[in-house]
Amino acid sequence: ALRVVVVGLGKQEDLKADTVRKAAGNVARRVRALGARKVATVVHGAGAGGLDPETAAQALAEGAVMGLYRFDRHKQPEQEPKRVEEITVVEADAGRLDAVRRGVERGRILAEAANFARDLANEPANVLTPTELAARAEAMAREAGLTCEVYDRPWMEQQGMGGLLGVARGSAQPPKFIVLHYRGDPESQEALALVGKGITFDTGGISIKPAQGMEEMKGDMSGAAAVIAAMQAIARLRPRINVTALAPATENMPGGNATKPGDVLRAMNGKTMEVINTDAEGRLILADALSYAVQHKLSPIVDVATLTGACIVALGTVATGAMTNNAEVLREIMAAGEAAGEKFWELPMFEEYRELIKSDVADIKNTGGRDAGAITAAWFLREFVDDTPWVHLDMAGTDNSKKEEGPWVKGATGIPVRTLVNFVLARAERRAGAPK
Ligand code: BES
Ligand code: MN
Ligand code: ZN
Repeated sequence: ALRVVVVGLGKQEDLKADTVRKAAGNVARRVRALGARKVATVVHGAGAGGLDPETAAQALAEGAVMGLYRFDRHKQPEQEPKRVEEITVVEADAGRLDAVRRGVERGRILAEAANFARDLANEPANVLTPTELAARAEAMAREAGLTCEVYDRPWMEQQGMGGLLGVARGSAQPPKFIVLHYRGDPESQEALALVGKGITFDTGGISIKPAQGMEEMKGDMSGAAAVIAAMQAIARLRPRINVTALAPATENMPGGNATKPGDVLRAMNGKTMEVINTDAEGRLILADALSYAVQHKLSPIVDVATLTGACIVALGTVATGAMTNNAEVLREIMAAGEAAGEKFWELPMFEEYRELIKSDVADIKNTGGRDAGAITAAWFLREFVDDTPWVHLDMAGTDNSKKEEGPWVKGATGIPVRTLVNFVLARAERRAGAPK
């Protein structure tokens, strides 16, 4: 070797898979900056660190592939761009080789899915319209062997999707409803749903947002990106379970035909929604997607959305807010997040919060005021899942990173793609283990 890099992993008793993931990301960027094109590495943490070799190898691959992510397609290429072309993972013990191979392969698939979500979320909104988001989901589905359906306005009208149509009214871009199916267990009638908010740009609509920072709202489709990208990894890993992803997609714009404060919309399940603030648009489009999931008997339902600024106030950019009507499914999500190195924190769904979204003119209103904004938003969504086990993930604070650290670089994080995939894999394994 021309160069050798020595990496400190900290105290032995503090070593976790995430230590390895972070180190791998930091080192990968460092060696790229040094101009290295081919790199060889041991599996950090699997020796004296005492981690299981498969887990450590997976974390290594995730950290390196995510850490090297760049979004540079709109920049003039450099003269000689620095690029790590190949990473060889070295394992001296032949008995561990299979485990290391499995870990590296799974880690690479998960990281590539996260990077796919990042590509979608980083793309400016003039490029990534609802139509383009649907086209990219279709292209991915073709390559991965998934079925993809993309529905237009007339279909939404037939379905009675008044929330999605109501938000789309102010935009010149046509809305899309994207459905992806993975059938890993054709004998079973059951399927779970992953639902993602797909606002390709959120101006706030008539309740328009201030100019400061509005450009960040190109990422308001990160939930949709996450569920679409998770399906790519699921298709590659082939677990024995059925999964359907739903992504309602539209811009939220203040056009002349836009929905106005005070307007009443009717969602697919028949419930009416008074629009107090047109900037609370995510819950309006999710109302229809969740109704659709229930009507198609998908269960459990996990939705992911950059839903509320209030969630950022509560948890900052460190943790994704999690709200549920089912403690068991939330436990599964928490465990899946732990394995991915993605943090989640539960916010309470006390009945008292439901009061805040009572409306005088409709079944519910779309904002509950400043108090407990993340929770009242979740209560709004809950109106559309009936008794179906459901977890809502509010990723408004975690979809984007301002710093470079480990697997993260500035821009979209790809959260919670790996958590969703881990959740699906663990469910498939549990079902296989359970007696018929
Ligand atoms: N997309 C925003 C939430 C958001 C804010 C995500 C900042 C990421 C960063 C959402 O549509 C929104 O505008 N929510 C409003 C709701 C309010 C009007 C009840 C909010 O949080 O201010
Ligand atoms: Mn909004
Ligand atoms: Zn929004």
